[in-house]
Amino acid sequence: MNRRGFTIWFTGLSGSGKTTISHIVKSKLLDRGIPNVEILDGDVIRENLSKGLGFSKEDRDTNIKRIAFVCNLLTRNGVVNIAAAISPYREAREYARKEIQHFIEVYVKCSLETCIQRDVKGLYKKALAGEVKAFTGISDPYEEPLNPEVVLETDKETPEESAMKVIRKLEELGYLSPSDGFGTEIYSPEEEEKVRIRLSTLGYL
Ligand code: ADX
Repeated sequence: MNRRGFTIWFTGLSGSGKTTISHIVKSKLLDRGIPNVEILDGDVIRENLSKGLGFSKEDRDTNIKRIAFVCNLLTRNGVVNIAAAISPYREAREYARKEIQHFIEVYVKCSLETCIQRDVKGLYKKALAGEVKAFTGISDPYEEPLNPEVVLETDKETPEESAMKVIRKLEELGYLSPSDGFGTEIYSPEEEEKVRIRLSTLGYL
């Protein structure tokens, strides 16, 4: 089984929903029988691959280049990658697009007001108080994508709706076939068995 790899690249403000939606998309892809799905989340990458990097433009660019490097390697080997980093600079995202074959840019759009209200990590409060410097959207730039493949509006949609928009786009672009959930050719025997059990539970078999 040799599946074509691709990379879904989420970009958006901190708290816009990148991580949440990546996990939902990942589970939908697994449900469709795609065996290799990796999430490269900014927060996690910064604890490992990019440990020690800060938030200057230079460090952010380095972070994005590292993520793009890994996505390129994995994509070449048939893995489906979901990158979820703020990636605030257009140029760095364009670099990633060039570096990675089969690149789908998803703008996780959410108003700054909503991100501030959510403030899941309490960082906006600190940034507004000047305790965190160069915070994206507050004291550091975020350059909106000009031509992303998908725009999500997480202040208007549920995470499930946003994830489905990504899935629909993947179908439209030919990365997922609408029949992927039921086709046998892409499944390993274990996955076939899972699908068989699911179909049987639903009364189809
Ligand atoms: S990126 O700009 O290099 O793409 P990345 O997604 O890896 O950023 O990391 C962003 C996360 O780091 C945020 O979600 C937040 O939790 C944390 N963070 C800490 N300081 C900052 C800052 N100054 N600007 C943005 N995010 C920050």
